Amino acid sequence: MEQRSTEEDDAAVETRGLTKRYRGGQLAVDALDLSVPRGSVFGFLGPNGSGKTTTIRMLMGLIEPTSGRARLLGEPMPRAARSVLPRVGALIEGPALYPFLTGRDNLLRYDAADPTADPRTRTARVAAALDRVGLAAAAGKRARAYSLGMKQRLGLAAALLQPRELLVLDEPTNGLDPQGMREIRSLVRELAEEGTTVFLSSHLLDEIEQVCTHAAVMAQGRLIAQGTVAELAAGSRGRLAITTPDPVDAVRVLKEHGVTDLVILDERVSGELPVPGPGSSPADAPLELADLNAALVRAGVRVRAFGAERASLEDAFVALTGEGFDVAG
Ligand SMILES: Nc1ncnc2c1ncn2[C@@H]1O[C@H](COP(=O)(O)OP(=O)(O)OP(=O)(O)O)[C@@H](O)[C@H]1O
Ligand SMILES: [Mg+2]
Repeated sequence: MEQRSTEEDDAAVETRGLTKRYRGGQLAVDALDLSVPRGSVFGFLGPNGSGKTTTIRMLMGLIEPTSGRARLLGEPMPRAARSVLPRVGALIEGPALYPFLTGRDNLLRYDAADPTADPRTRTARVAAALDRVGLAAAAGKRARAYSLGMKQRLGLAAALLQPRELLVLDEPTNGLDPQGMREIRSLVRELAEEGTTVFLSSHLLDEIEQVCTHAAVMAQGRLIAQGTVAELAAGSRGRLAITTPDPVDAVRVLKEHGVTDLVILDERVSGELPVPGPGSSPADAPLELADLNAALVRAGVRVRAFGAERASLEDAFVALTGEGFDVAG
């Protein structure tokens, strides 16, 4: 019998070796070990096709894993689906709506399908959920006349009909305008403050940085990194940026010292710092910067400002995957 650690029990979502190979042979999720701490706002980040939705479908018991296991709120999925899923709110790609019913009537149906929902308070519950997602004014419109963003909001409202311990949101801001994105972000923060763990997928780094405490980065079905957002951003070093009236000389010297991807913009030169070799500790980094600065001065380059730009999650992602990332918004 396998011993379970306390950490596993504490995790809101935990997977071990979770794998999905679709019938066509596509390996969509490859041996995923995910740990989502309770109380976190966890960003599940990855480009299109990296396996986010597939993972979420397995977590929610909508599709069977090929191998591996998943726990939701400490309970095994899909075995414990009946007892766990009522404690979990979910928004998954393209919420199923009745097109001829209004937004409000769609929610009333969702609520009626929940055996634990008290029918006497149904109307109030639905009104509160509509209000929370900014859909009160459009509640009387038929769902088929909803825009993508409005459908997304309605799906979110359905997930919020009951207080939940865990919310699983697949690209919750998909299709929303910038104002709508801001509203959803502040809603997520609000829910987190109330103690709900929020697991949300996104391909927008910016969004993850703004709202998440933790994140996991996926690429081609594999987990590349996970940790706190601060840890992940710190894992990459920012670009070097200097201000100098001698940009051409600066580029020459920096190049000699292993700085790559050099860009001159007027009096500003920026570049990618050399990756520390194996065996070198992060403590070497400040030394390297000081050496670079000294080398510039020795070569007669006048330096007005010198420093490393703040590392962002985007830098981390590029460093981890070697890929660019669509940053919208
Ligand atoms: N039902 C399916 N049958 C076969 N292959 C599938 C199926 N669903 C997804 N895939 C494949 O699995 C891989 C992962 O897809 P998935 O939808 O999980 O990615 P995603 O990270 O959610 O992408 P996006 O950001 O575009 O939503 C892709 O290569 C996709 O083509
Ligand atoms: Mg998806």
